[in-house]
Order: sequence, then structure tokens, then C-alpha cells
Amino acid sequence: MVGRYKVSIIGAGRVGSTLAYLLKQGGYSIGGMSCRREESARRAVEFVSGGVPCRDNGEAVGDSDIILITTPDQAIATVARQLRGARIDWKGRIAYHCSGCLSSDILSPLAEVGSAIGSLHPLHTFAQPAQTVSRWKGCYFFIEGDARARQVALEMSAALGGKGVVISPQQKPLYHASATMASNYLVSLIWLSLLLWERIGIPFSEGVSALMPLMKGTFEDIEKLGVASALTGPVVRGDLTTIKAHLQALREADKMAWQVYCKIGAVTAELASRNGLLSSQQREELLGILQAANAS
Ligand SMILES: NC(=O)c1ccc[n+]([C@@H]2O[C@H](COP(=O)([O-])OP(=O)(O)OC[C@H]3O[C@@H](n4cnc5c(N)ncnc54)[C@H](OP(=O)(O)O)[C@@H]3O)[C@@H](O)[C@H]2O)c1
Repeated sequence: MVGRYKVSIIGAGRVGSTLAYLLKQGGYSIGGMSCRREESARRAVEFVSGGVPCRDNGEAVGDSDIILITTPDQAIATVARQLRGARIDWKGRIAYHCSGCLSSDILSPLAEVGSAIGSLHPLHTFAQPAQTVSRWKGCYFFIEGDARARQVALEMSAALGGKGVVISPQQKPLYHASATMASNYLVSLIWLSLLLWERIGIPFSEGVSALMPLMKGTFEDIEKLGVASALTGPVVRGDLTTIKAHLQALREADKMAWQVYCKIGAVTAELASRNGLLSSQQREELLGILQAANAS
């Protein structure tokens, strides 16, 4: 079935170009690839070694079965309305967008004219298409939409070497907030750690090198041992003296880092306690110290 599908990309930027490249490798044929600027569309077609560069989104749809709208989130609604207004027979086609937060409801103008609609969010970073495809090992795709869109998205996920997981439209904001914490906010947390080290004379670049074995080891432990077993440090040791010393130092050094430490310290206490690594008495004591610090 895969080989019979033709896919058009509306908004062939980082995600659109990368998915088109990988779909082509997976046996799909690529139709029109549109961008606002001609040079962007040409660059995408060159990268994919397939497809037709377009500046007109309606023209890019052509005779494709699957339409992937990979414009920035804020352009998806406009594109859907614009495509609905174009002279296109939508029956038998499936339109998707790739936003993590928005549901497929935003494509309802296309459903009203006969298209199946869905969203397909690849849980992966897409900084540079060439780099992404060179280290591609598949990823999870979080999917929602009508029955046909869900079925075909599951097939596409498998053809892309990944795994599709169906969620509901209502779950998307929570799903995406969670993914944001696990990826973007993790970066922010590391940045904050590096800022603190800068205060004691460790430059950023050296700090990154120093933290890398620690961070990579933590990721490996999470993968091999599970989240709870990967947790080490003063919280699981119930070492309140060390935590008090941290709070004192952070309070003097950086108010934002101190607040973050208190909040994530409470989460860490919860994780440790729920997994039997901290007694309820130790948990209460620790939360008391963190809350008292926060209130003072
Ligand atoms: N980046 C990620 O890591 C990531 C991960 C998962 C999902 N997503 C989702 O994937 C989608 C695309 O993100 P991205 O990072 O690939 O964006 P991007 O690199 O900025 O690419 C967006 C593309 O859309 C084109 N475009 C903008 N408005 C358009 C319009 N009205 N008609 C046709 N083309 C238009 C742009 O063309 P020009 O170049 O000509 O301006 C550009 O090529 C978003 O929904 C995002 O939430 C992103």
C-alpha cells in the first residue's frame, strides 16, 4: 500500500524536507513541495532528490493522496482555509499537520470538503535536515485524527522506522507540554547549571565538557535501569545537611536557580518517595526544608 501513496509537502522547511526525504526512502513518492519563497522550495526538492518545487499551495497538492502541512503552527489554519478555497477534489485524500500542540480540528475546513484529517507529531528534533537524516533511527510519532487518518499515519510511522502512538485531540496540549519539559526545559536547566559554574570560574565550554559524562551516564541509566533507579544524589541519600548547604549557596548566588532548585527538589522527593527510596518521614522533612526556604 505504501508504494501507492503520493505525498505533497506544504511548507517544506526543516520538518517537511526531512520527512519527505525519509518517506521517499520508505517507498512513498513525493509530489509538490511548496514554500513561500521559491528558493526554499527548490532547496527542499534538491535535498529530497524528488518532488516538484511550488510557490502555490493548491498546485502543490496536485494528485497526491497525502498532504503534509508542515508550515509553522501559526500558518496552519490559514493554509487549511486557503486549500479549501482552491479547486481541489478532497475526497479520498488525507491532510495532516505536524504540530505537537494543535489538534487536527484546525484542519476541519478540509474535512468539510471531504478530506480525512489528522495530526502526526514526530517526537524528534529537526535542527538541520541533513544532520537529522544522517543520524535517523526512527522516532515515536504521536497521532490523532479520524479513523482513516490514524490508520495511514500508523503505516507511515512504521515506514519511517518509528512507532505510532494514538492519543486524543484533547490530550495534545498536555502531551506537548510534557515533551517540552523533557527536551527544551532540560536545555534550560543545563544552562542554569553552567551559569552557576561560571560564577566559580568554570567557562561555559569547559562546563559543557565536564557535565557531558554525567549527563550521558544519567541518560544511559534511565534507558537501562529505568527512571527511579537512575536517581542518585543527596535526595535519595536523605542527606539534608548537604541540601541545606546547597540552598544557602544558591540563595546567595542566584535567586532564579534557588527557586528552581526548591521546585525540582520537591519533585525529586516525590519521585524518590513513590519508589521507596525515601521514607515518608524523610520526604516530609525534606519538603519542610524546601518550603521553608521558598517562604523565607
Ligand atoms: N522543528 C522541530 O524540531 C519540530 C519538531 C516536531 C514538529 N514540528 C512542527 O513541524 C512544523 C514545521 O516546523 P519547522 O521547524 O519545519 O518549520 P520551518 O523550518 O520554519 O519551516 C516552515 C516552512 O513553511 C513555509 N511556509 C510558511 N508559511 C507558509 C505558507 N503560508 N504556505 C506555504 N509554506 C509556508 C516556510 O517557507 P519559507 O522558507 O519560504 O519561509 C518554511 O519552508 C510545525 O508545525 C512545528 O510545530 C517541529
